[in-house]
Formats: sequence, C-alpha cells, structure tokens
Amino acid sequence: MAAEPTIIELRAAALTRLNAASDLETTRAWYRDYLGDHGAVTALTKRIASLPPEQRRAFGIAVNALKTELGATLSERQASLEASALETRIESEAIDVTLPGRPVRRGFLHPTTRIIREICDIFGKMGFQTVEGPEVEYAKYNFDMLNIPADHPARDVWDTFHVESGESEIVLRTHTSPMQVRTMLGQQPPVRVVVPGRCYRYEATDATHLAMFLQVEGLAVDEGITLADLKGTLTEFARQMFGPERKTRFRCDFFPFVEPGVDFAIDCPQCGGKGCRLCKQSGWIELLGAGMVHPRVLEMVGYDTSKYTGFAFGMGPERLMLLKYGLDDIRDFYKNDIRWLRQMDRAWL
Ligand code: PHE
Repeated sequence: MAAEPTIIELRAAALTRLNAASDLETTRAWYRDYLGDHGAVTALTKRIASLPPEQRRAFGIAVNALKTELGATLSERQASLEASALETRIESEAIDVTLPGRPVRRGFLHPTTRIIREICDIFGKMGFQTVEGPEVEYAKYNFDMLNIPADHPARDVWDTFHVESGESEIVLRTHTSPMQVRTMLGQQPPVRVVVPGRCYRYEATDATHLAMFLQVEGLAVDEGITLADLKGTLTEFARQMFGPERKTRFRCDFFPFVEPGVDFAIDCPQCGGKGCRLCKQSGWIELLGAGMVHPRVLEMVGYDTSKYTGFAFGMGPERLMLLKYGLDDIRDFYKNDIRWLRQMDRAWL
C-alpha cells in the first residue's frame, strides 16, 4: 500500500509524461500505462470498492476526477500531435506550382545529316535532283566505266576495299562517281543529279582522313553544257555555302573521268585571302574536284557525244564542315561525343 503513489503524485507523473510525448505512438503507450485495462488509474478505480466506507466517497470522486482530467488532456494532446503531423506532411508534400518546369531536351540532327541536306538543298534550287546509290559497288562502275581501266595507274589513287574478285569484281565504292554511270545508264539527258553517300578508302585514319567518309557527287548532262555552266553552278554553290562575298578559283587538275578536270577553291573565309592557319597561309581553300564529263564516259553509257556534254563534281561534306567551322579533326564527326555534337548543333550557321 505504502509503495503506491498517491493520486497527486500519479497525476503529476502522468501529466509530465503526456506533455513530453512527441508522437501519437507514445500517447498510445501512455494510455495503456494509465487509463487502459491494466493502467495505474484503472487500478485505483478497482480499489474504490475495497476501501472502508468512510473513505470510499472522497477517494472515488478524486479518482474519477483524475480519470476525466487525464482523458481530456490525452484527447487534447493527441489532437495537437495529429495536427502538427498533418502540417509536417503537407509541408513535405507541398508542390511549388510557381517552379518552372524542367526543360525537355529536344533531339537534333547529326551535323553530317544537316550539311548533306544543306548541300542538296542548294543544288535542289538549281534544278538538281537528289539520288542515292549502293555503297557496295561493281568495280566496273566505280572504275572501268569512269575511264579507269584495271591496269591503269590512276586506279591506285583510290585505295580500295575489295569485297569480291570473281567474275564481277565488287568493291566498297571509293567515291560517289559510280552513280554518274548508274544515273546515265538509267536515263537519257537532260540529267541533273546530286548524290550524297558514304564512301570507303583503305587508308590510315588521321585528323584529315577517314576510311569511311561522305561525298556529294554532282552531274549535269544536256545539250550545250560548257565549262562556264560548271563555273557558274559551283560559284553559286560556294557563295550560298560560304558567303556571298566569296571569290573563286578554278585550276587544272586531273581525274580520269573528266576532261578538262579542275580543282575548285574559294578565298579563305577565315582570313579573306590574307593567309591564316586554316588556309595554310595560301589564302585559298580547295573545296572540291570537278570537270567536264569525259567523252569516253558518255560513250560508255551510250550517250550521243555529238549532242551532249556535261559537267561533274565531287565534294567531301565533312571536309567542307571543317573549313566552314574551322574545326581541326575530322574524326570528331564519328566519335558520337554528345557534347561535341550539341556544340555543333548550336554553332550551326
Ligand atoms: N570522284 C572524285 C574523287 O573522289 C571527285 C570528282 C568527282 C572529281 C567528279 C571530278 C568530278 O576524288
């Protein structure tokens, strides 16, 4: 009996513990300890009956008052804990509707796709149709019918990947020029086509050479086409591509399938011809090879050479890009470094 706390002590201890309770779980444990079936207050209630009659009334009133007070305090405490728990949850789940959305990154075209489209668009406006041809090609089209016979030393100029050397020798095309042959075999003049596509050469890779690279071929055959048409067409192309103020230069060059053959250059867009690193101090940038289609090539596809003449050109789009953007390594195009690609996309002129 003596070890039992008095009602006053019990009340003080109970209230202290209840006020200290920092979560609902603790208040539930508190309830078990005081007001539950085996709780301390319940134990006091049970004792009422065993007390002598003269103490019973006062004790009973005191215990009931305590029970009521503790019950009410518990409800209050739980209500306030619930409220602050709710507040914490609302705060943690809050959505800031004023926050700007996360930007969705849109994809973009690879620079080689863009440059090819740009080149073909420029020629498209001059009446050239874009066509494509096979990358695995008959040596007959890649060489022979372009006036490069098997024993001709010029054949060595194009270091070739050979695919098959049976009855019909097959190679990976070393340039897009075989599409000149295929186009002419398939139709009579007038012909005006540009041919973008991949080419392959058995070469060591370095900053300016790739074993797989792109070319865009051009071919125009009609009655009365002259070198002046070639010069006018390529000059217009260069000015659209590199700026309207570009000066152009045509010099003699040799390709077995053209006569005469020319090398086409523009004054360096970087230094305006004064000489810089890009043009290797020459003031000129060589863009492409071209020439008047060799009569033998026209003959081999069955064109009437007394009636038709034509010009052809071939350029390397990656090289054009190096020049246009002052880049220094052609291998960057095929590293798939997304940062480099994105930078190219942003820098596009
Ligand atoms: N096919 C040539 C090359 O790859 C380029 C070229 C095309 C030259 C058409 C003249 C005419 O080097």
